[in-house]
Amino acid sequence: MARKNIAAGNWKMNTTIDEGIELALQIQDGQRNKEVVIILGVPFTHLYPLKRKIKASSKILLAAQNCHHKTSGAYTGEISPLVLAALKIPYVILGHSERREYNHEDNALLSQKVDAALEAGLKVIFCCGESLEIRQAGQHFSHVKKQLSDSLFHLSASHMKNIVIAYEPIWAIGTGETATPQQAQEMHEEIRNILRKKFGKRVAENTSILYGGSVKASNATVLFSQPDVDGGLVGGASLKSDEFLKIINSF
Ligand code: 13P
Repeated sequence: MARKNIAAGNWKMNTTIDEGIELALQIQDGQRNKEVVIILGVPFTHLYPLKRKIKASSKILLAAQNCHHKTSGAYTGEISPLVLAALKIPYVILGHSERREYNHEDNALLSQKVDAALEAGLKVIFCCGESLEIRQAGQHFSHVKKQLSDSLFHLSASHMKNIVIAYEPIWAIGTGETATPQQAQEMHEEIRNILRKKFGKRVAENTSILYGGSVKASNATVLFSQPDVDGGLVGGASLKSDEFLKIINSF
């Protein structure tokens, strides 16, 4: 099975439920590109109402932005992967740099979260990426390799069918500064090589690798046309339906 082109939005902590429904329906009504998988990563509270509003035929899939590494228990304020799976939410975003930074999620915890999500039957959009300091020190490849090896290398090749990787250089997130197409391509190629060495050619060729960090309509086409860039994980530009629809049509 060839890897898919994916346009994923990460709404982060934005929109009320009503605003989210309006945005999702605008995307549903405006989208014509049937070759792209569209994923909306929305706040927990929006998952159930959006699930009810979005037509199954629209090909829009929902993602949670996090889940806990245990399935139940005394974890006030947390969300179990089993609850997401019972709601038939297909995806969860794990390892976003904002959660790594503000919620102190490290590679070891993320490894447990990945396991819990996969066991519940969720697919994982696993985020990785380096800070500006790490890039300037020339350690971006080894940093990303460690993020992948510490959190994903215990998985089997068959588990990897349910993993999408999102490379999001922290210096490009919300800054308006996008990685150049060459910078994105060389990291994506490196990630695919890492997957090939660890899991084999089939996993490497079939895993979708998304780029995230100031993706917008004006740069999506050139980014998505790189051979190892299979789409985007889009923050700010996914909150405007016209802009996100242009991104969806950039493949
Ligand atoms: P921006 O597109 O706003 O830079 O955010 C990227 C991101 O963090 C997606 O997860």
